[in-house]
Amino acid sequence: MAIKAGRENARLCKSARVGSVAGMSLRVILIAAQSLDGRITFHDVKGATFASAADRQYFREVLRGFDCSVMGGETFRVSEKAIRGRKDDGRLQIIMTRRSGATDPWGSVSGVLEFSRESPEKIIAGLKARGKKRCALLGGGQIYGAFLAAGVVDEVWLTVEPRIFGAGVPLTTQAVDVKLALLDCERLSSDTLLLKYKVT
Ligand SMILES: NC(=O)c1ccc[n+]([C@@H]2O[C@H](COP(=O)([O-])OP(=O)(O)OC[C@H]3O[C@@H](n4cnc5c(N)ncnc54)[C@H](OP(=O)(O)O)[C@@H]3O)[C@@H](O)[C@H]2O)c1
Repeated sequence: MAIKAGRENARLCKSARVGSVAGMSLRVILIAAQSLDGRITFHDVKGATFASAADRQYFREVLRGFDCSVMGGETFRVSEKAIRGRKDDGRLQIIMTRRSGATDPWGSVSGVLEFSRESPEKIIAGLKARGKKRCALLGGGQIYGAFLAAGVVDEVWLTVEPRIFGAGVPLTTQAVDVKLALLDCERLSSDTLLLKYKVT
């Protein structure tokens, strides 16, 4: 039997563990698109150029549900124009950088686009202190790895594209051992899966 695609009717599985994060303290959700073999870039091409149209649409929509986000300096540099263009959506964007001389190498806007060299734990503590409720962790591999290693990620929302690369930036650039429980999975299109996991 063919399984229908489309975001409304394409849920493949759903468990009772799915819950609302509304009203809770800050939730940190890792959002990534990867190849079937766990690469977030196609070989050495910068950016998520391999992501399908369905994932791009999902990504645009899902970001609206977050009041803050964190990404690494490399991801910022790759997509700087688009990221600066999102200034009006009300989401605080924090860019992690170790660039010497300043925490503001590209021009910050307080409460909108900020640069930080603090640890994941301190960044999350700071966001909590500012009353933020939902943080989208937007990569890349160094930042995903650092936050997973620090144990501050609550959920992983992974788009799996039907591609195998054998090379490229991995989902995490450092060794971790994170155990997950599947919350939900759905088809974004006929070949692209969205998997949602809770960190246990
Ligand atoms: N497919 C996807 O969903 C997806 C998602 C995100 C990104 N990407 C792609 O992944 C690639 C980037 O991944 P990446 O792993 O190379 O880089 P990254 O994680 O985006 O950024 C690494 C940079 O973050 C900063 N950084 C890292 N750890 C830090 C710490 N503890 N404190 C302060 N700053 C820290 C440093 O910036 P400075 O060099 O400025 O010091 C470092 O060079 C890009 O091509 C991007 O487009 C794909």
